[in-house]
Amino acid sequence: MSEPFYITTPIYYVNDVPHIGHAYTTVTADALARWHRLAGDPTFFLTGTDEHGLKIQRSAEANGITPLEQADQTSARFKEVWELLNISNDDFIRTTEPRHIGSVQKFMQAIFDNGWIRKGSYSGHYCVPCEAYFNEADLVDGNCPIHGRPVEWFEEDNWFFELSKFEQPLLDWYAANPDCVQPEGKRNEALGIIKQGLEDVSVSRTSISWGVPVPWDEGHVFYVWYDALINYATAVGYGDDPERFAEWWPQVRHLLGKDILRFHCVYWPAMCLAAGIEPPKKLAVHGFLLVGGEKMSKTSLNQIFPADLVSDFGVDGFRYHFLRDNPFGPDGDFSYESMVTRYNADLANNLGNLLSRVATVVEKKCEGVGPAPAVDSPLAAIAAQSLTDTIAGWNNMTPSIALEATWRLVGAANAHLEANEPWKMEPGPAVDAVMGDALEVLRIVAILATPAMPVTCAEIWKRIGLSGSPVDAGVAGAAWGGYPGGRPVVKGDGLFPRMAKPSVG
Ligand code: ME8
Ligand code: MG
Repeated sequence: MSEPFYITTPIYYVNDVPHIGHAYTTVTADALARWHRLAGDPTFFLTGTDEHGLKIQRSAEANGITPLEQADQTSARFKEVWELLNISNDDFIRTTEPRHIGSVQKFMQAIFDNGWIRKGSYSGHYCVPCEAYFNEADLVDGNCPIHGRPVEWFEEDNWFFELSKFEQPLLDWYAANPDCVQPEGKRNEALGIIKQGLEDVSVSRTSISWGVPVPWDEGHVFYVWYDALINYATAVGYGDDPERFAEWWPQVRHLLGKDILRFHCVYWPAMCLAAGIEPPKKLAVHGFLLVGGEKMSKTSLNQIFPADLVSDFGVDGFRYHFLRDNPFGPDGDFSYESMVTRYNADLANNLGNLLSRVATVVEKKCEGVGPAPAVDSPLAAIAAQSLTDTIAGWNNMTPSIALEATWRLVGAANAHLEANEPWKMEPGPAVDAVMGDALEVLRIVAILATPAMPVTCAEIWKRIGLSGSPVDAGVAGAAWGGYPGGRPVVKGDGLFPRMAKPSVG
């Protein structure tokens, strides 16, 4: 039952500071990792920074510092934001670390030794922000289709990876692993790229020096993408600790935005096949967070930074929003107003209100001591369904569906209170029965919502008088009937103070 769960985010470029787009991917990976720990699965969660390449070299030049100084500074900014957002990564990889340089050289040497790398020359349209070549046909009005900025003409002698020879092996791999890319639309997009025909790709550069040296040809460095993708293997001991590598590979799930689908869903599985390891188990591709209909980016000056939202919504409010509001797959427009609306509806009026109502009534009518739930409560069946759907939602890597299922139970408990109006009843068994059931819902929700809101859930746990933490209870503890009763319930401050709707303008 306990299958290892290894999850990764993309490693982020260090030319740019973290914005909510990066946070969206990382918070999602974090919640998934926390879910699997809660379920008792051996879990490893990796994030990090991508520090080589022309883009970083130029950005450092523009800032008047060395590329490594640039990488040190920005990498630290990512670490800070991940700490702020309570990200529980087990490792943080930087591609400039010696462990990674050695691993890239071994990985690429294996592809070379297996006969899949040849010499050639290359010319093409290059987009520096993408660190990618584009065909004439891919350009939009002569510009990069992703950044909408001019491309540059490059000509070089390079080493080539014979990707063209992997068309059929990739199609076979896709056929044998129907769920390898999710959602289905993104899988079809990847298959479309493969079926259009694959050309060999250049994997080295002589024009820049900021990269990992090609072991068989001094003067060349690997092209940043072939260095970067290998980070996922490095972190679990590729080429260094075969036992550890076998423990986690190929049980790896990569989360990524659609901007880097081609690299992850086409090039990376082919590289794995060429190097003689299995391709990743899962590639989960999400859309862009848009601001006013546009992709957030440094060039459009429309970036929103996590710290600004955290100061208004709190860390857990931030986490909840991005997990709940943005189903994995399609693009989603971010707006502050809809963040306020959902915060008020789901957190202030629903979960926060449930806790404060229960604590108030228990204080007034039960002498501050929480009663036990009834085995045959009308809420028990709803809780069981919510548990089943929550488990499925997390296991399918669809946090918004998981949270929606958990919140159905919160909503049902509030409706149960409204139907019974325990605040109007005289103290006695009838009040106790309603409160016992509501406390049990709070206990279960504190477990199930832990991956999204770890601090809030630990707080709920404490306030309803439970010892230990929801993490100790685990998913196995979320079945109906666990609240023991006889525990002191503490009212405390509101968990999620209601927010005023911002005025437009
Ligand atoms: O591509 N909406 O790094 P990167 C949603 N170094 N997600 C977004 C986003 C947005 N507006 N903006 C960024 C690179 N992201 C490479 C990756 S991996 C071996 C190398 C997220 O800094 C999303 O996950 O450009 C996207 O794929 C990633 O940040 C790109 O980060
Ligand atoms: Mg990018």
